[in-house]
Amino acid sequence: MIIAIDGPAAAGKGTLARRLAEHLALRYLDTGLIYRAVGLAVAQAGGDADDPVAAEAAARALDPASFNDPALRGEQAGAAASKVAAIPGVRTALVEFQRAFAATAPGAVLDGRDIGTVICPRAEVKLFVTASLEKRAERRLKELLDKGVSAIRERVLQDMKERDERDSARSVAPLVPADDAVILDTSDLDADAAFAAALSIISQRRRAD
Ligand code: CDP
Repeated sequence: MIIAIDGPAAAGKGTLARRLAEHLALRYLDTGLIYRAVGLAVAQAGGDADDPVAAEAAARALDPASFNDPALRGEQAGAAASKVAAIPGVRTALVEFQRAFAATAPGAVLDGRDIGTVICPRAEVKLFVTASLEKRAERRLKELLDKGVSAIRERVLQDMKERDERDSARSVAPLVPADDAVILDTSDLDADAAFAAALSIISQRRRAD
């Protein structure tokens, strides 16, 4: 079984996807990490994340061993990720890795922006996890402060807005729910409630098949 979970930044996709994978004994891939790794590789080589030549080369040279680098979780990597992610050649270079991961037994939960639309259009279950901009900025701020990173609410909100706009407006694989995705708004749901809601959607889908 393949479960596709898409949605904007800090909507709760990662936590939810990880828990679902564990509960259902499926593999888990945070596809955002892939774009973060490419963005960071370009930045660390002194390049510009908007430069298609540098970004495509980094995407082709991607080493999954680098996915554990804690620097990938930072906001700088997030911003660089959304820039390289708008470059068509970068996305093309990363498709096979993601599809191969999804196709490996016993199946997988993938979270990202285009899993239900581009990477796994035939996924058995597609969730589009979202929340209001304010709630998402609040969560990201808390995440940063918990990690000991100093952050200002207004700045986090502004960065998130810019990233949402870039992700939604790009011409290749924009952030949109697949036609057959179920929308899960977590604005008023904590992690446990979001998990329960997702499990109920998944079991309904399975019964319908
Ligand atoms: O954790 P957060 O939601 O902040 O970001 P992420 O999921 O790690 O993704 C970082 C950036 O990578 C996003 O803003 C997207 O531009 C890009 N991305 C993408 O284009 N397609 C994906 N499947 C996953 C991430």
